Amino acid sequence: MASEVKYWTDRWLKNEIGWDIGEISEPLKSYFDQLADKSVKVLIPGAGNAYEAEYLLNLGFSNVFVIDISDIAVESFKKRCPNFPSDHIINGDFFDLTMQDFDLIIEQTFFCAINPELRSRYVYKMKDLLKVDGKLVGLLFDFPLKDGPPFGGSTEEYTNHFKDIFEIEKLETAYNSIPPRKGRELFIRLRNAARHE
Ligand SMILES: C[S@@+](CC[C@H](N)C(=O)[O-])C[C@H]1O[C@@H](n2cnc3c(N)ncnc32)[C@H](O)[C@@H]1O
Repeated sequence: MASEVKYWTDRWLKNEIGWDIGEISEPLKSYFDQLADKSVKVLIPGAGNAYEAEYLLNLGFSNVFVIDISDIAVESFKKRCPNFPSDHIINGDFFDLTMQDFDLIIEQTFFCAINPELRSRYVYKMKDLLKVDGKLVGLLFDFPLKDGPPFGGSTEEYTNHFKDIFEIEKLETAYNSIPPRKGRELFIRLRNAARHE
């Protein structure tokens, strides 16, 4: 994955981070606002500036982890959010993460960033990282796959990827996207119904 580290670090160094909306996305903000249990163990992969992690910290969530493959992304987040516990900030490859038992994993422009050939690995990795009944929640782009990143997809494609591995509780057009993404992203809530063998 050395080429991935270089690709993403170059993007960070050149400030080519058009994905960065400068704040938490409205769909995830609304989702977080209705969570009652602030002790849940949360992972934000491909976190970048991790506005979601900052928001959760400010809400009082105490067990949130972020991971990004680029050290520049990690440094950017640390500088932006110095109060976030440094031992919960991981500079590494999501696919190599050895932690487990997350209650919640947040998807915000990470799935669209990885090579589409890795999508099946992503699905199984998510399952391994989550507790039984843990959830993968977030946003997936709803436009044709094409040359990325960002690589898109469709309801049908995402359903095919997830349906045998997760219980799809929600996979629908987000009603509260930010204007540039309106009608172009799907909100997902997928439950890790049981361990695969
Ligand atoms: C499109 S950006 C999204 C950043 C952030 N989630 C946001 O929405 O602003 C994708 C991020 O994933 C990171 N990344 C790419 N591949 C990764 C991997 N295999 N493991 C961990 N992070 C990865 C990149 O360094 C980059 O910061």
